[in-house]
Amino acid sequence: MHGLGRDDRVILLTSPMTSMRICWLNGEFVAEDSAKISIFDRGVLFGDGIYEVAAVVNGRLLDADLHLVRLTRSLAAVGIAMVQSAAAWLEIMQTLATRNGIVEGLVYLQVTRGVAEREFPFPANVPPTMFAYARPKALTNDPNAVGVRAHVVPDLRWARRDIKSTSLLAQVLAKQAARAAGAFEAIMHDEGIVTEGGSSTIWIVQHGTLVTRPLSNDILAGITRDVTLQLAAALKRPVVERAFTLDEALDAEECFLTSATSLVLPITQIDDRNIGSGQPGPVTAALRDAYIARAIELTTAPVLAVSA
Ligand SMILES: Cc1ncc(COP(=O)(O)O)c(C=O)c1O
Repeated sequence: MHGLGRDDRVILLTSPMTSMRICWLNGEFVAEDSAKISIFDRGVLFGDGIYEVAAVVNGRLLDADLHLVRLTRSLAAVGIAMVQSAAAWLEIMQTLATRNGIVEGLVYLQVTRGVAEREFPFPANVPPTMFAYARPKALTNDPNAVGVRAHVVPDLRWARRDIKSTSLLAQVLAKQAARAAGAFEAIMHDEGIVTEGGSSTIWIVQHGTLVTRPLSNDILAGITRDVTLQLAAALKRPVVERAFTLDEALDAEECFLTSATSLVLPITQIDDRNIGSGQPGPVTAALRDAYIARAIELTTAPVLAVSA
């Protein structure tokens, strides 16, 4: 993969998938149109499930091990069994990326509490439903890197936002409201205090210092957030983990979002207000560059052979 330049990747990314996508469902790789689940699946009936999304760069998974640690935590928090090891998941995820020819994109996986008659309490002795798929997406050459607009909405979610649950109706409504307002992302708030983006972590830069909300049950522990904190430390950029208000975001020098499939993206407008100059700021740009450099380094490093 060393030979691929950024422009080559764009061409690969934009070329249509020529054959039907291969997905993975309950232990088998199957064509997309045969990947079917029951109407009695609790994921369908109750949104009773957990999911993860990991990036693919240079045809290889990025930080998928960290996503699987979070999967284990989310499943444990809602009492769904982790019936296959992280190593087995990693192999499935990488196989999906490879077999579907994904150079840049993502792998999505979901585990539900399984199929049972519709009763709210947990069914006994029901195996979880597990599935995964991959799709292409421009990550290192994301056209949104020029800066995106965000739209402010109230946070209507439940009190365990640290669990990556498939019950996402509040985020569906938030992101639809953002789209209707011509924005890329929703910024959700609780009584004027920013919680997070519809599907991202929100950051501001104030007097050169990065500010993002501390981990708690109020937000998802973003994997990209964690890596960005490490990159900020390496760049010797001061960071404060504290809650901040919408007004602080509007008055910030810079604002940006992080997520596995957006990496680091500048938010240059919140509703009708420009943030800073209305252009991506230097701190955001440096972090995005560092994120991409790290992603390329990790996904082009030789794979260590495991001796038997
Ligand atoms: C609500 C929410 N917060 C934050 C994130 C970012 O998490 P990550 O960096 O692990 O993708 C996501 C990702 O989907 C999300 O849905």
